[in-house]
Amino acid sequence: MVNQRVKTVIEDLETTLCAFMRKHQISHSEYRAATDLIIQSIKLGEESLLFDVFFEAEASDISNNERQGSPEAIEGPFYLRGAPQLYPPYVMPQRDNEPGELLFFKGAITDLEGNPVPEAELDLWHADALGLYSNIHPGIPDWNLRGRFYANKQGQYEIQSILPPPYEIPKAGPTGAVLSALGRHCFRPAHLHVKVKHPAFGEMTSQLYFEGGEYLDNDVASAVRDGLVAKLVYRDSAEDLAIRGLTKPYY
Ligand code: BEZ
Ligand code: FE
Repeated sequence: MVNQRVKTVIEDLETTLCAFMRKHQISHSEYRAATDLIIQSIKLGEESLLFDVFFEAEASDISNNERQGSPEAIEGPFYLRGAPQLYPPYVMPQRDNEPGELLFFKGAITDLEGNPVPEAELDLWHADALGLYSNIHPGIPDWNLRGRFYANKQGQYEIQSILPPPYEIPKAGPTGAVLSALGRHCFRPAHLHVKVKHPAFGEMTSQLYFEGGEYLDNDVASAVRDGLVAKLVYRDSAEDLAIRGLTKPYY
């Protein structure tokens, strides 16, 4: 059975790519180099990386045109379903003495009028202090710095983790080769990935960046958007320290 949406989109892609090839006079060896690059990226399990770096932000922006509220941002290639369910007080799964500065990520989920949305699920994942993701890069315990938790009845949430740094995406394979040929770096600004889910409001995928962070203006994945840059507040009041039973400052 013909799927009209697939037919419209694929036929337009075919026409657009053929016109593009004519415009740039793509030779057979250039065509073969391009197909080899895609095949190689699949063999190395890097096809999501390749496509997400160049195209995912566009898809996410197009979806944002149809919705209101906080913008979505790319999921990226390192999301995994089924992160551990956490219980309050929320602390991201981490190693003993997980390297990195202490971070408390807090906020509130509201509807478009600012009314609290109670008990939404947050699925949070981010890189470690070396810019590496558990279950993707070797030598890190499974599900490290990945977890699911809930906002409270007033829509507020808070979780303890570590502050991820800006990081370089894997650059040894085809994606790195293309970026290098374009003269681009491979860095993303420091960020937290989050999916927020609620039975009445559905699901959204986004990211949070940090004000003043490096690469905010030239993210390799072009995925920084207004409204997603959060403020880091240094919390070292005696009250804050006492609440956590800490003896030294934290963020
Ligand atoms: C990330 O945010 O983890 C990411 C996004 C796009 C490409 C590579 C990594
Ligand atoms: Fe990331």
